[in-house]
Amino acid sequence: MTANGKISLTIDGRELEVESGSTLMEAVGQTGQETPVICYHEATTPEGLCRLCVVEVEGWRTLPPACVTAVQEGMVVLTDSERVERSRRTILEMLNASVDLSQAPKIQEQMGDLGADPERFPGARARQFPLLDDNPFYVRDYSKCLMCWRCVQACGVDMQLSFALSVGGRGHDSKIKTFFDNPMPDTTCVFCGDCIAVCPTNALKDKTKHYLEQGLDYDAIRLEKKKARMREKNSD
Ligand code: SF4
Ligand code: FES
Repeated sequence: MTANGKISLTIDGRELEVESGSTLMEAVGQTGQETPVICYHEATTPEGLCRLCVVEVEGWRTLPPACVTAVQEGMVVLTDSERVERSRRTILEMLNASVDLSQAPKIQEQMGDLGADPERFPGARARQFPLLDDNPFYVRDYSKCLMCWRCVQACGVDMQLSFALSVGGRGHDSKIKTFFDNPMPDTTCVFCGDCIAVCPTNALKDKTKHYLEQGLDYDAIRLEKKKARMREKNSD
């Protein structure tokens, strides 16, 4: 540590000093570069889930995720080594093989940047779930969900404190769910929309947008929403 309490390290051959307690991602940001991310969002607590942000640290056996790894004195970091790029590319190829990323433009862009092959794992088992349409405000399509947990955190401690969403199941069958798989109106959801705002893949989608994609015009959408409200009222 330097006399002013900062940590000195080297990133891609450039020496710099950063505040103690900074993450590698923040340190990389100081060099003017951006680390590619999926699960990280500035408004939610980083959990280091997707691993797209990995970097290479000299002397370290594994590639640490930059969003949750703290800087250490004397680190020598590479952000674009062949190993880093291969790892990021493989993560994207594996995700693409198992999750519907057709409405995730940022991730499609990352795949293009890294030269990821969308056909690399043709035999992979896709995660497929029926569309959940159980409330007047939004739909949930977990076939598009890559389990970044952003929605769970936005619904919970990071924003809304509603805790309507949680993570359930194991391995390939794990998914985001409500308690006991209850329909959304029977949960603590307040329909704030924060979960939709942080979802990177459009797995969570505003109902109007969903209907427009189905080819309905605004008059038809108003009618659909009215019918949904009536159904909900009658079921009370
Ligand atoms: S629904 Fe969206 S925000 Fe929630 S975990 Fe899946 S991809 Fe992430
Ligand atoms: S962005 Fe760092 S692990 Fe996902």
